[in-house]
Amino acid sequence: MNEQHQPGTLRLQFPDNFLWGCATASYQVEGAVEADGRGASIWDTFSHTPGKTLHGHTGDVTCDHYHRYPEDIELMKRLGAGAYRFSLAWPRIQPTGSGSVNRAGIEHYRRLCGSLRDAGMKPVVTLYHWDLPQALQDAGGWPARDTAARFAEYADLCFRELGDLVDRWITLNEPYCTSILGYLVGVHAPGIKERPLAYRAIHHLNLAHGYAVQAYRALGLQAPIGTALNLVTPRPATRSAEDVLAADLAMDLQTRMFLDPLLGRDYPARHLALYPEVEMPVQSGDMEIIKEPIDFLGLNYYFEDAVCADESKREGYRQVRQYQPVTAMGWHVVPRGLYRHLKKVAEMAPGIELYITENGAAFHDHLDDEGRKCHDPQRIAYLKEHFAACVDAIADGVPLAGYFAWSLIDNFEWSFGFERRFGLVYCDYVDGRRVPKDSFFFYRDVIAGHEA
Ligand code: FCB
Repeated sequence: MNEQHQPGTLRLQFPDNFLWGCATASYQVEGAVEADGRGASIWDTFSHTPGKTLHGHTGDVTCDHYHRYPEDIELMKRLGAGAYRFSLAWPRIQPTGSGSVNRAGIEHYRRLCGSLRDAGMKPVVTLYHWDLPQALQDAGGWPARDTAARFAEYADLCFRELGDLVDRWITLNEPYCTSILGYLVGVHAPGIKERPLAYRAIHHLNLAHGYAVQAYRALGLQAPIGTALNLVTPRPATRSAEDVLAADLAMDLQTRMFLDPLLGRDYPARHLALYPEVEMPVQSGDMEIIKEPIDFLGLNYYFEDAVCADESKREGYRQVRQYQPVTAMGWHVVPRGLYRHLKKVAEMAPGIELYITENGAAFHDHLDDEGRKCHDPQRIAYLKEHFAACVDAIADGVPLAGYFAWSLIDNFEWSFGFERRFGLVYCDYVDGRRVPKDSFFFYRDVIAGHEA
């Protein structure tokens, strides 16, 4: 390990062309759910179902980014960001998930991309960040193969309509969450709890990704295209061979079920053998489609798990208690885990450029000084340590090309509603007012190369 920074000498120097940005997702920030012909998504349905989100919060209004994006672009300009990662709401572009395009939806995103470019920032566009058109859910959702075909059509349409304005494309955000949290754990839309459906969803998400990349290549567009995964690389609780094996087993579902087919390998047989009720709906030619080469891999990293062997568990491992402080999500703060994660992923996916497409932390922020300031020293500490992990990974040869903070602004945190604030900018949900937090200015200094 490269020990560049002993305590007190933290160095936050990044390569000159390192891409710095912030990230958001459509349903979390846009609001304006009825505007300009937008159709309903599964998150509208889910959040409006009693008991599904904390306090019954919904994304109906949230930060109203749909209307206030010019102000948010101004903020990013002040930050010195080089890029903005946001997602397209599929139901704004195809209100029922198929068929002809809703021009107003496209025009909105063309204005957003154009304004970003005018402000000197690169639009980094995620095609799918969880807001599936409800009509496609009614037709079976991700467990249905047809959803992958619909996604291919939608992706193709977006490439044609926005391809001249987008600098990087990301097909899917965290297909693990879509499939496992949506169809097995049930805490995300559509709130189903059936393992066989969850695994069908996994395959169709992987397939959807492959179809989209193929459609993109067929159009001959040049901007890089990749995907954003929340892979896990847990650390073994001890050095014992059993715990080391446990940490490897713990990568099967969340990491290998997604990364392996992307890299041309089969689904992990060792994992599938544990669940005879599961059948991967692989048809001939599918694995070829999924492995269509990508230009970069986006990693969303928030914490690292620690696991030990446990023979009483079907998957052979369990999480162990950790000693690190936790964020408002209850997630342990493990900056060195990011270093280990980057090293491990670079080893598993050699030769692929990496981006941190999400990293950040929720804390119980509040406004101070008559509502003009928001002091968030814990977020600054979190970011500083995670930046240091990136510096070390780069020094060790990891091809890390950029970093996107989650998030630009406080927003609708899925089933936690507005009770978890991840923003560099505070959002007052009463009047939509934006107040940059101290961490915003800290990030600005790092981007400017001042090492803070
Ligand atoms: C990730 C999601 C993102 C946000 C963060 C906190 O799993 O991709 O939308 O909610 O977690």
